[in-house]
Amino acid sequence: MREGSPKTIYRKEYAEPEFAISRVDLVVSIFDGYTLVSSTLHLNRRSGAGTSLVLDGEGLELEAIDIDGESLAADGFHYDGRQLTIPAVPDDFHLHTRVKICPESNSSLEGLYRSRTMYCTQCEAEGFRKITFFLDRPDVLAEFQVTVEADKAVCPVLLSNGNLQSTRDLEDGRHQSVWHDPWPKPCYLFALVAGDLECVSDSFVTASGRTVALHIYVEAKDQNYCGHAMDSLKRSMRWDEQVYGLEYDLDLFNIVAVDDFNMGAMENKSLNIFNTSCVLASPDITTDAGYLRIESIVAHEYFHNYSGNRVTCRDWFQLSLKEGFTVFRDAQFSADMNSAGVKRVEDVSFLRTHQFAEDAGPMAHPVRPDSFIEISNFYTLTVYEKGSEVVRMLHSLLGHEAFIRGAQHYFRTFDGQAVTCDDFVAAMEQVSGRDLTQFRRWYEQAGTPELAVEEQYDAQAQQLTLTVSQHNPDTPGQSDKPPLHLPLAVGMLIDGQPQAFDDGSMTRTLEVTEARQSFQIDGVKSRPVVSLLRGFSAPVRLKSAEDDATLEALISADEDDFVRWDAMQRYASRVIASRQQDQGLSPSFLSAFGSALDSDVDPAMKALLLTLPSEESLADLRAQTDKVDVHEIRAARERVKAVLGNHFEDRWRDIFDSCATGPYQPDGSQIGKRALGHLAFHYLCYAGGDALGTAQQMLAKADNLTDRLAALRAIVCFASASDRRVALESFYQRWQDEALVVNQWFTVQATRPAADAVEAVRALQQHPAFDWRNPNKLRALVGAFASANPVAFHRADGAGYELLGDAIERLQSANPQVAARLCAPLTRHARYADGAAEAMRRQLQRIAGLENLSRDVYEVVSRSLEQD
Ligand code: TRP
Ligand code: ZN
Repeated sequence: MREGSPKTIYRKEYAEPEFAISRVDLVVSIFDGYTLVSSTLHLNRRSGAGTSLVLDGEGLELEAIDIDGESLAADGFHYDGRQLTIPAVPDDFHLHTRVKICPESNSSLEGLYRSRTMYCTQCEAEGFRKITFFLDRPDVLAEFQVTVEADKAVCPVLLSNGNLQSTRDLEDGRHQSVWHDPWPKPCYLFALVAGDLECVSDSFVTASGRTVALHIYVEAKDQNYCGHAMDSLKRSMRWDEQVYGLEYDLDLFNIVAVDDFNMGAMENKSLNIFNTSCVLASPDITTDAGYLRIESIVAHEYFHNYSGNRVTCRDWFQLSLKEGFTVFRDAQFSADMNSAGVKRVEDVSFLRTHQFAEDAGPMAHPVRPDSFIEISNFYTLTVYEKGSEVVRMLHSLLGHEAFIRGAQHYFRTFDGQAVTCDDFVAAMEQVSGRDLTQFRRWYEQAGTPELAVEEQYDAQAQQLTLTVSQHNPDTPGQSDKPPLHLPLAVGMLIDGQPQAFDDGSMTRTLEVTEARQSFQIDGVKSRPVVSLLRGFSAPVRLKSAEDDATLEALISADEDDFVRWDAMQRYASRVIASRQQDQGLSPSFLSAFGSALDSDVDPAMKALLLTLPSEESLADLRAQTDKVDVHEIRAARERVKAVLGNHFEDRWRDIFDSCATGPYQPDGSQIGKRALGHLAFHYLCYAGGDALGTAQQMLAKADNLTDRLAALRAIVCFASASDRRVALESFYQRWQDEALVVNQWFTVQATRPAADAVEAVRALQQHPAFDWRNPNKLRALVGAFASANPVAFHRADGAGYELLGDAIERLQSANPQVAARLCAPLTRHARYADGAAEAMRRQLQRIAGLENLSRDVYEVVSRSLEQD
């Protein structure tokens, strides 16, 4: 166990900073093996503050310190490795320090570190303190001037935030660049990059006619992979002007791609830093899903320029203020650029499987948490995805026009400030005149609300009554929760046709505010099929016991993409859970599935409709009432797939043939066709025939990664061990120089649904292409194994859990953030039957007992073990 328990930070203990820092001057001099950081801070004591100054600073080697030019005596300050205390300081002064740090040995990828040939920074949330002394908190906003110096041959490119002020050559082959950012910002948005990079350039003319230079910096080998990100950036800039009226606020916008990165990307002011996997694109290295993902992440980081940078968070408990809002904004953008229905269904599917599981486990927390040990652990699905759903509900309650006015009011009122989630809701209240007091509970209450709806139809009065009950389940530390305010969008079908309400509208939004509440709908001519929660209007579990005929009606005729998809998911989940597949599937299910096959929705939507609920979401459903047996779930799901594959074999073949596309284009129409074609091919693999021959052909003639991977996956899952090895080996030989493709190759093997994938993953950890220091490799192999290979991960002898435990042990002090994230699958132990749960807890206990346990891993592991 670690020495002493780490400190818990509470939201209610927030206190304003004692000092303001108006200006920062940094000189960062990079040498081979060490870096010197010289800093001058202009500090001002705020009224009511004490005499002493306490600054954050982690693991810094302090070489010089002075105040207003007078160096401090050894007893004039104290530095304990985490905080610098100066007992007596003036009201208004300049503090100068010089520290030495070592980016080359920084494996945590927080602060300044070296990745392959470049130096780069990651400061959010609390990484700036690993670079120099500072008040490392988001409510201290300062103007930054940054001088970067390095050897000109090693690091010809030197970047930081804002505008380039000057460059010049120094002695000994070194050079410097001076950058100035006119916008005051918190230090988590500071960034610096130095390296041998190529620059891909373009420009954008803003609505008011200013020209902005756009640059993407990458290693020379990746120069040709920047076009898609650049186009996405320009589309994002235009969209934010058109929809929110927000124009970019500097003359320069830079993106840098780095291979070693803990997360997806980071919105540093005018110097966004991206994981290579979230920015580089070409048909050979990027899947269709990858193209869409890059577009949305580029947009996400760009949108942060307002939601996050111009208006930032007061403290880290308010993280969803910027993340939930920005995820909502990027989802709106993606919906506008592509198919809105498909985007919505994909997002909901992701939220329901993964965020719902988080909310049902030991790490459950409100969108605005009340406490944390390590803030990095709270960059969660709850803060991001549920946070975005909360903003989406505001959008539905207020309507688009009022919501946009509210957002504009928020940006204007709080420009240049660090604010709270409450301030955001208050801005929405002000423009709409609505009382959102009860709505604010969404920020406070953890857990997924359960909604039950009873229908009553009075033929004589032509009246439909919907009685809605909501239940908010207990979560760790929270019980007896009051009801939430939520929009419930409903529609009707009569005689298999969409039916308007008496005011002519097709969808009505009911506002649920009570634990149990009835809504009367007049003018309903005959008993309707009710379409509930259209568009997934609130992040709830809908508990309804509709009959098969209702589901079939919704699947074949409802207007709402989400409802149609959800009805199919419910129906299929029911069939898989009931084990009726042993006797063959019921004619009514086959007919519902057949009508989805026949429906004239576009191919992308059809592919979603015909995809069975994932093993993960079946497990989540099962966990509502019972212990989860992943092997049983998988077997049942596979049997249903086999029946559907055989029963509709001819149809699948037709679909497969009709989905052939011409030369690769990552556009909506081709992406949809490939998704549907690959699904048909997948079902054909269950129907026998010569699916494997087809796979070999696909692999041989593919002109893109999406087709290649679909074929490779089929061979890996269905072919003999020797054919599998041949295909994997030749794929590796061909693509070994493309790190991002090699990652996919790791994932295909890590997720092969067979018990001996455990041994395969262990062997791949020895492969020359694997690298324990690279988070993408860890996620591709170990992360994918633990989160997307239930059969092998939950192997009865516990070997899967042990593999994960070993990886976490090896990583936890080198890269605490990534190690803590890898723990997630083990935290779900309470879902599983005794033997499995016990074996999972054994791994958690073993990790808890490690020497020098990092705070990140300690928090996750200790909370997971607390529950029982
Ligand atoms: N703010 C980043 C985003 O856009 C998240 C992020 C990037 C991050 N790197 C990080 C968070 C490192 C914590 C640690 O969502
Ligand atoms: Zn973000």
